[in-house]
Amino acid sequence: MQKKFLTGQCIVLGVTGGIAAYKAVEVASSLKKLGAEVQVVMTEAAQEFVQPLTFRAVTHNPVITDMFAEPKSWEVEHISLAQKADLFLIVPATANIIGKIANGIADDMLSTTAMATQASVLLAPAMNVNMYNNPILQSNIDKLSKLGYGVVEPASGYLACGVEGKGRLAAPEKIVELAIRELTLSADWQGVKVLVTAGGTQEPWDPVRYLGNHSSGKMGYAVAKVAARRGAEVLLVTAPTALESPLGVEVEQVQTAREMYEAVLAVAAEQEVIIKAAAVADYRPQNKAEDKIKKDESEPLINLERNPDILAELGRRKERQFLVGFAAESEQLLTNAQAKLKNKNLDLIVANDISAVDSGFKVDTNQVVLISAQDQQELPKLSKMEVAARLLDKIVELREE
Ligand SMILES: Cc1cc2nc3c(=O)[nH]c(=O)nc-3n(C[C@H](O)[C@H](O)[C@H](O)COP(=O)(O)O)c2cc1C
Repeated sequence: MQKKFLTGQCIVLGVTGGIAAYKAVEVASSLKKLGAEVQVVMTEAAQEFVQPLTFRAVTHNPVITDMFAEPKSWEVEHISLAQKADLFLIVPATANIIGKIANGIADDMLSTTAMATQASVLLAPAMNVNMYNNPILQSNIDKLSKLGYGVVEPASGYLACGVEGKGRLAAPEKIVELAIRELTLSADWQGVKVLVTAGGTQEPWDPVRYLGNHSSGKMGYAVAKVAARRGAEVLLVTAPTALESPLGVEVEQVQTAREMYEAVLAVAAEQEVIIKAAAVADYRPQNKAEDKIKKDESEPLINLERNPDILAELGRRKERQFLVGFAAESEQLLTNAQAKLKNKNLDLIVANDISAVDSGFKVDTNQVVLISAQDQQELPKLSKMEVAARLLDKIVELREE
């Protein structure tokens, strides 16, 4: 008999009008088998593809289809359902529902409940490849991701519309796995004080120019976001980025390495875990000009001086904290990372090959090796959110040891 992981958990499963709606039946059935209470909400279009009766039979619950149907109790149904949800899943998610949620439209039972919920929302898009690649859809997905909505990446392959491409609903078992992860993760960092640093510092040369680096901050922000979602009390000290502040995270903005040093060292002693994902400049221009340096015939030289090494200082002062560093390397990844782990007195280092395709700076994916004194774990190429989740899993494991 299958272990009932999800007993006591309520999952609201929204089903929208795409060809893949029939696959949501398998998702509902698997979640039910795992012990979850599954409440299905179907859009009008979804009912063109699958009968509500199918979901009713699988979940043993009535299926909600109409916001204005005669209520079965005094409760306003979309609000009570939204509050009851431990997780809100939308499978498949049409371009339409993604657009509606991203733009605050609440014109039917599903979109209204999605707006009212405070649970994590996980969307599994499925559609024609051109719809998927449409920049409007992509920007809606991007907006939702930045707001903390989970998006299950669709697969590539043969689509129902007869073409090959990206847009096929992710495999139901993958969706179920992510749902389980979302539901079972949420409490393991409850109340843990975590400091995360992110972004690339900027070292001014004059009031207009600075020395910087390619860090986008995405990895550090993902760590802060996932830690907060798992219950941690997160302080994010960040150099300038184009990213929105993650929900539920306290954010302190800095610009230079020295400002980051001050901000981090001021609070380091209170932290239980410190994760240094920022790309901190090793050097800064020795003098910052008061006025903009004018272009003339000369070729100016910039004299550089060393910035303080924040990670090394944290390693020196470390008492009870768990200290994590990142090593972005373009050569001899493991050797350099292992040396840094030791020299800076770290508990874990995330070694990041920035020369690999779709890994490191700017992109949304990363391929890393987690190295501790005990072991070495190579992760496949994953989204930065997933890398963050795996990193936090590893820290839990090592702290328990
Ligand atoms: C046969 C057929 C298949 C469709 N498949 C999809 C699909 O896979 N993904 C999608 O976004 N829209 C698809 N649509 C379009 C949606 O049904 C349409 O945009 C609808 O308004 C969605 O409403 P809903 O989001 O409220 O369910 C399909 C339409 C038809 C007629």
